[in-house]
Amino acid sequence: MTAPARQVAVVTGGANGLGEAIVRRLHTGGCQVAIADLDGSAADSLAEELDGSGATAKGYPVDVSVPAELAGLRTEVLDDFGEVHILVNNAALTRARPLLEITAEELETVMAVNFSGTFHACQLFGSYLAERGYGRIVNIASLAGQNGGTTTGGHYASSKGAILTATKVFARELAARGVTVNAVSPGPQDSPAVHSIVGEDNLDALARNIPVGRLGDPAFIAEMVALLASPGAASVTGACWDANGGLYLR
Ligand SMILES: NC(=O)c1ccc[n+]([C@@H]2O[C@H](COP(=O)([O-])OP(=O)(O)OC[C@H]3O[C@@H](n4cnc5c(N)ncnc54)[C@H](O)[C@@H]3O)[C@@H](O)[C@H]2O)c1
Repeated sequence: MTAPARQVAVVTGGANGLGEAIVRRLHTGGCQVAIADLDGSAADSLAEELDGSGATAKGYPVDVSVPAELAGLRTEVLDDFGEVHILVNNAALTRARPLLEITAEELETVMAVNFSGTFHACQLFGSYLAERGYGRIVNIASLAGQNGGTTTGGHYASSKGAILTATKVFARELAARGVTVNAVSPGPQDSPAVHSIVGEDNLDALARNIPVGRLGDPAFIAEMVALLASPGAASVTGACWDANGGLYLR
């Protein structure tokens, strides 16, 4: 199947932070966007701001850790927009905590949202996209998933490492069916989550510790996602594109 002119994109965790930047970039680029977020009212507000008519942007209240909710999301988006071409798995939880203080319950929660949510969404939307013969999946990983992280929590880092492995597994499985699966792996971004985890007073020190001397720009993460999600990116699959300011070189 050749790439369709009109693209429908589902972005999980699309109501805030990097997800919001991705939604805005894809919408500006001409996509219809399904903003799937636990924070349904923020998703609705963003959709309303982008397109009050609802024709090209709609919010969906979804907990990605619940497979039945992801299945419901797929059904609803297909009912509303008729098709899906792009899935961006961006929703995640960060629980900064020393390794030995992580409870079994918190480990399960972080893995369920970050890893299982991504895995189930890749399965659900991946099977639909493969059947149609065209699709782009972009998983948002993290530098922590590559180097183990320092402040983000061992469960968070482990979940992101698992996402990088799943990205390769799904890429290999879906490659011959027109669906690419890639990851973008950000280092610390100039984003609300980093401001709140690190604290406003510590941002300069954090930036000085990054070889390029600055935090990343969420709008540029969105550019990377948009490029990987574009029809022309047909030969890129199973890749992990880093944006960490030189903190991790491989
Ligand atoms: N901000 C950074 O510096 C940074 C660095 C590396 C990786 N990342 C990754 O980028 C992505 C976005 O990060 P962010 O900083 O914008 O985070 P954020 O916390 O600002 O936004 C996350 C969004 O996901 C939603 N969400 C949380 N749990 C959910 C669930 N169970 N179901 C559906 N939605 C849920 C939240 O409501 C929120 O809108 C995440 O995958 C994160 O791990 C961010």
